[in-house]
Amino acid sequence: LLAGVVALAPVAGFAADLTIGFSQIGSESGWRAAETTVTKQQAEERGIDLKFADAQQKQENQIKAIRSFIAQGVDGILIAPVVATGWDEVLEEAKDADIPVVLLDRTVDAPEDLYLTAVTSDLVHEGNVAGQWLVDEVAGADCRIVELQGTTGSSPAIDRKTGFEQAIKGHDNLEIVRSQTGDFTRSQGKVVMESFLKAEGGANICALYAHNDDMAVGAIQAIKEAGLKPGTDIKIVSIDAVPDAHLALANGEMNATIELTPNMAGPALDAMEAYLADGTMPAKWIQTESKLYTAKDDNQAVYEMKKDLGY
Ligand code: AHR
Repeated sequence: LLAGVVALAPVAGFAADLTIGFSQIGSESGWRAAETTVTKQQAEERGIDLKFADAQQKQENQIKAIRSFIAQGVDGILIAPVVATGWDEVLEEAKDADIPVVLLDRTVDAPEDLYLTAVTSDLVHEGNVAGQWLVDEVAGADCRIVELQGTTGSSPAIDRKTGFEQAIKGHDNLEIVRSQTGDFTRSQGKVVMESFLKAEGGANICALYAHNDDMAVGAIQAIKEAGLKPGTDIKIVSIDAVPDAHLALANGEMNATIELTPNMAGPALDAMEAYLADGTMPAKWIQTESKLYTAKDDNQAVYEMKKDLGY
């Protein structure tokens, strides 16, 4: 410090001209679009200069963006990691530069000391809730299930599969007969569901488990085009609770969805600001809620309430 210059201690809770880099996966789903909108809103409300980078679903683009944030000397970095592996090196680089990293909505297979905290749902639990809902729904009847997986290698695809399988284990009436990735997109959800219907015959499929609502909505279209009634001929359970899923629930075309809040940035920026202000260490995992919605809920009302949130 220069002689005579008084160092001001950072004031807790005050975002003093913070610059935060945000490496977002892309815009594969309605949920992802909402997360981007909410993150930008949260940054603006706090007076944070948010540097946003859309990786177009590619990890290499995320790594490039993170390196660029480090080179620019940002105060902190938010990362929604597209896949779970391959992050150690770039996270080490951020750590060496003393830049805290907060993970949003997905987890990584990297040592915990390489990031400040992760704001995610319990992804295994979500799969578990979906599986348990189906176990209860079919009440012992035989049920052949098709599964639309999320992006291969992503933590939600891995964990939501695990959780669902755990829930149906020991229920011999339930069987996953086909399982394939639909990459969390509406278009792939439709294409893959068409192939399931062709391979199995619609009448032989009792239920669809989709790792997100967008794939379920695409699949609903495929089921209709095959002359079947989604939600009746084929039961549908998925994850996110985006407005279109509430609409499908209200119309009887879907049966259940588990809510994932798009507001990961609120808790993430709280943790980041507190850490940057006075070194407060957050919990290593900040868990968001997972609420089950079924046709019993007032889905029309929830749709109206959610549709302006930027989905
Ligand atoms: O990581 C969260 C998942 O990613 C959401 O469930 C899905 O819609 C998104 O693309």
